[in-house]
Amino acid sequence: MCGIVAYSGSRPALPVLLSGLKRLEYRGYDSAGVAVATPTDITIRKAKGKVSELVNLLSEESSLESSTTGIAHTRWATHGPPTQENAHPHAGGKNGIALVHNGIIENHRALRDKLKADGYTFLSETDTEVLAHLVDSLYQGNLTEAVIAALKEVEGTFGIAAMAHAEPGTLVVARRGSPIVLGLGEKETIVASDASAIIKHTRQAIYLDDNDIATINGSDLDIRTLDSGTVTREASEIDWSSDAAEKGGYEHYMLKEIFEQPEAISNSIRGRLDHERGSALLSGLNLTPRELAELHRVLIVGCGTSMNAGLVGEYAVEDFAGVLAEVEQAAEFRYRNPIVNPSDLVVAISQSGETADTLAAVREAIDKGALVSGLVNTVGSTIARETGRGVYLHAGPEISVASTKAFTSQVSVLLMMALKFARSRRMSREAGLQMVREIEAIPALVQQVLDQNDAIAKVAERYLDQTSAFFIGRGYMYPVALEGALKLKEISYIHAEGYHAAELKHGPIALLEASVPVIALCNDGPGKDKTLGNVAECQARDSRVLGIVTKGDREAIATVDDFIEVPACPLHTAVVPSTVALQLLSYHIARLKGCPIDQPRNLAKSVTVE
Ligand code: G6P
Repeated sequence: MCGIVAYSGSRPALPVLLSGLKRLEYRGYDSAGVAVATPTDITIRKAKGKVSELVNLLSEESSLESSTTGIAHTRWATHGPPTQENAHPHAGGKNGIALVHNGIIENHRALRDKLKADGYTFLSETDTEVLAHLVDSLYQGNLTEAVIAALKEVEGTFGIAAMAHAEPGTLVVARRGSPIVLGLGEKETIVASDASAIIKHTRQAIYLDDNDIATINGSDLDIRTLDSGTVTREASEIDWSSDAAEKGGYEHYMLKEIFEQPEAISNSIRGRLDHERGSALLSGLNLTPRELAELHRVLIVGCGTSMNAGLVGEYAVEDFAGVLAEVEQAAEFRYRNPIVNPSDLVVAISQSGETADTLAAVREAIDKGALVSGLVNTVGSTIARETGRGVYLHAGPEISVASTKAFTSQVSVLLMMALKFARSRRMSREAGLQMVREIEAIPALVQQVLDQNDAIAKVAERYLDQTSAFFIGRGYMYPVALEGALKLKEISYIHAEGYHAAELKHGPIALLEASVPVIALCNDGPGKDKTLGNVAECQARDSRVLGIVTKGDREAIATVDDFIEVPACPLHTAVVPSTVALQLLSYHIARLKGCPIDQPRNLAKSVTVE
């Protein structure tokens, strides 16, 4: 998390830096800062709070407007609370060096003690200031060499951008475990930790690899690795439109992203369904027919929303392909020394492709010799690159912290994966064609839920005042209950838990009373009758029940207190429209409560620490 922007070129740097920070604010937003080169020194300005605070601070500083080189940062606190002192950039020595950093320097304490003994004074509690002083202590007139020497001493992860007063116009940037992308412009380079900060200026980009270090001056670039000389990194074209990265008239990014889902899912599906063979293509998986046939088990790892999508994948892979499947929290997978075989496929699911725990699980699986694939939205992200056999979601940039279109695209791709595995085994062509049609229908099913937005907003009005809620479902609707509860707590701060409908009576039912509503997934299909029985149990404890019901299902409608209808479809695809209904419900509850929907407290879009 945290965001980096840096600029070297012929234009004034500040507008580029500040607009880039705004674009990256979703990555971290508790403080922000810039450093720009002036004829006499490097000027650093920082502010606690959002980027707008920094913009206000700088509005009175006309002397900085002509600077054409600078670095900037928006922070999500790891070491030390969100204060002005702890905000980046940090100065090394006597302001000769300025540096911004994403990631964590793990040996910062030992380095801090050593630097203190050498006479350095620290103004902040951050590991980043340690790095800035370390670079300063090794600086002998060449910033690139000083940064290389410093990075050889640090343990941990970093994406950094640094500048030195004595080398005007020069930026030195590097990465290990935290992304850095170079946007190539006319006589200028815009550096960022995420391509969304540069697309306004250029679509030509170079993604640095781990241990790459780049020296930049205007459009002059020299990229080398920490251990060797100059290397060549090919530029690629960013295919996001800048419109896609703007709010497009919606009140919040989250609402925009909810409404983008028919298109996002269509993009995820496009060109991947084989109407001839009744299968899915997914060539990025890069599995030979033999590897497919010998697949022993599918292990799915992810965090948060991505893990909930993984659970749908587990059910679908076992259901259709008859292949063993398990989903596991990525952090747990890494540390509990799991049993992984060469004939296991580990599928890492991540919207950002940068989540530290998921990345660590990927590396663990690679070390254990499994086939490892990434199901990732962000092109060029670390997980996408390290897994090699990836399937991109193509859902477009997801800006709101609460994940929406990534989840529904993940589920759509997982269903295609299940179809592909199933067709390599027992599933007939005819059954495969049927599933192809079901997957193709998903965008239209979602649209039918979106068309009920106003009605869902009305239902939300009845669920504003509660402080606690339960979501229940069974079968394919169990992951939907987990995801619905996660969404509600993330953005509305209402305590919400998702449970298997049958599990409620093994403890949580003790908490039910009139002030605790239950949101029940009562979709028509196997298990519905039992869930309606659970609904009655909740009502008997005075809970108000909001049912997600299949359109026109009179029995379900008559049982629940309030309802939202989703179109009739098989349960494995009903996951998607039902989740969309719950996204809208959470959105409207949070909106009516006046919550900061796109940037909820304490959360970050991409969690690159363990
Ligand atoms: C954070 C976000 C969640 C997201 C999770 C996993 O916690 O706030 O919305 O589901 O990370 O992120 P990933 O990018 O790996 O899908």
